[in-house]
Amino acid sequence: WVLMVTARTPTNIAVIKYWGKRDEKLILPINDSISVTLDPNHLCTTTTVSVSPSFVEDRMWLNGKEISLQGGRFQSCLREIRARANDVEDEKKGIKIKKEDWQKLHLQIASYNNFPTAAGLASSAAGFACLVFSLAKLMNLKEDNSQLSAIARQGSGSACRSLYGGFVKWIMGKEENGSDSLAVQLADEKHWDDLVIIIAVVSARQKETSSTSGMRDTVETSALIKHRAKEVVPKRIIEMETAIKNRDFASFTRLACTDSNQFHAVCLDTYPPIFYMNDTSHRIISCVEKWNRSEETPQVAYTFDAGPNAVMIARDRKTAALLLQRLLYNFPPKSDTDLDSYVIGDKSI
Ligand code: DP6
Repeated sequence: WVLMVTARTPTNIAVIKYWGKRDEKLILPINDSISVTLDPNHLCTTTTVSVSPSFVEDRMWLNGKEISLQGGRFQSCLREIRARANDVEDEKKGIKIKKEDWQKLHLQIASYNNFPTAAGLASSAAGFACLVFSLAKLMNLKEDNSQLSAIARQGSGSACRSLYGGFVKWIMGKEENGSDSLAVQLADEKHWDDLVIIIAVVSARQKETSSTSGMRDTVETSALIKHRAKEVVPKRIIEMETAIKNRDFASFTRLACTDSNQFHAVCLDTYPPIFYMNDTSHRIISCVEKWNRSEETPQVAYTFDAGPNAVMIARDRKTAALLLQRLLYNFPPKSDTDLDSYVIGDKSI
């Protein structure tokens, strides 16, 4: 017999960024962060996990290619989930798995991303969140999504925020064992459904500096990161929570844009410096800033993760349509810029 579970998890985009760890193994951050989870119909990972007595080892395929499960991060997630597994019974198929059997049974895992892997579009976030969620269902875990988020966190920090839709906060926590470093939902997906997210894929190439090694270098060499984590982010987190609660787009935009800019400033303050944005990214920022300044209130927020791709959040559908027009005019696809294509979240978040 084979027992299978399939799950789909959207990626999330941080509007107050996580950058820097206080514990690399447990993946514990140096500051809280806040993100918005995308619509599950757009950028997402789909994962099928299966178990069978005929499987002789744990194996995993990502986008059809076998990948190693030996990495510490996969092993942490698998270990944590197996430790919490429960009895599973499927009467129709005549399958009975005892809690303790999960230690011996092997798994096969197939995962697909419908967007560029490791191009700064948070593929690891959706990936580990989906892996943990589907395994938790397969093994009949009783933990809630917040508790599962603390397991997904050990796969990739940002993954813990993809266990919820809407607006999500990753609380950094204080405990050394990481038990209180988990995600909570601030507002569900219906709370602010005017917003529309547009992602300009400036480059679908893999990023040169991974988030993991980038943030390690930052913590070791940047003086600015200490100021950011201790002084700046705690205040911004409170302000951002209020902006989200009140659907205050002007404050939301100011906080999201300044936080993205400070994250990239911290990257520049790292030695050797890390450049995630390119000329096209900078031109997109100028274009949005100019537009926002020409209106009474801001129309579009932008944020960039560890890559050159622009994530733009328009205040409503009308603005999103205008934004697309401006982007197409200023960055015509197939010109000599490296703006290859657009990925458009045409649904509200
Ligand atoms: C810039 O979660 O990919 O996207 O925990 O080492 O796997 P690891 O890093 P990762 O870092 C994401 C960094 C970011 C900001 C964010 O998502 O908050």
